[in-house]
Amino acid sequence: MKDPVIVFDHVCKSYSLYHHITGGTKNLLFHLPSAVSAIRNSRYEALKDVSFELKKGEAFGIIGKNGAGKSTILGLIAGVLKPTEGRVTVKGQASALLELGAGFHPELTGRENIMLNGIILGLAKAEVLKKIDEIIEFSELAEFIDQPIRVYSSGMLARLGFSVVAHLDPDILLIDEILAVGDMEFQKKCIDKMTSFKKSGVTIIFISHSMPDVKRICDRVAWFDNHTIKMIGSTGDIVFSYAKQ
Ligand SMILES: Nc1ncnc2c1ncn2[C@@H]1O[C@H](COP(=O)(O)OP(=O)(O)O)[C@@H](O)[C@H]1O
Ligand SMILES: [Mg+2]
Repeated sequence: MKDPVIVFDHVCKSYSLYHHITGGTKNLLFHLPSAVSAIRNSRYEALKDVSFELKKGEAFGIIGKNGAGKSTILGLIAGVLKPTEGRVTVKGQASALLELGAGFHPELTGRENIMLNGIILGLAKAEVLKKIDEIIEFSELAEFIDQPIRVYSSGMLARLGFSVVAHLDPDILLIDEILAVGDMEFQKKCIDKMTSFKKSGVTIIFISHSMPDVKRICDRVAWFDNHTIKMIGSTGDIVFSYAKQ
């Protein structure tokens, strides 16, 4: 058995309830002392006691309702979030497409954003320059590449984002619900690219609401519900159970 490249060991992630106040600020101000102590003591659990392991080269799907905790998992793997309890171990360089437009600057051009993102994701400027033509070609955005990305549609942003992360030679590729906004042709191109990554031994974590895409890419799937893993197993079994709930 190969060593695991990603290990979640009884991981919990909670946020201060401050972010989840529903009564409104006015209400809060009128009852300030009691509200403050309530906030201090209450936490909102985004993830509860999550444990799983991924082997190198596995393609792992994460499915489940909005708010279930899927993106939090990717944030923890990418290292942009820290667990409140438990341990997350990651071996290798994770290249993440976490959110549409995250890490992009609206006033910079597509080309400038590629440079910026490449550097943020850990490449030297010279390395990004070497790859930039290939990235632009893959994105099929050459016509718009020297325009500020605030004029891009969400599909165009997804193209740019996927093209950047897919050309960074990642050990671990994290894709969060990004393909849904692209057109069909680009979705297919991304699926093909992920398939070739899989063949070359890249570990993939793929969050999607598209069960056909999940079936195409993933060997194993975790179904998240209510901030924890409800089921984990082979793609066929989990997708079947999820669909018939
Ligand atoms: N920065 C944050 N502050 C407070 N709560 C958050 C934060 N990020 C996520 N959450 C909450 O954690 C839960 C899980 O979020 P997320 O992982 O984004 O879910 P999913 O990707 O499955 O839709 C949600 O209820 C969300 O509101
Ligand atoms: Mg999400």
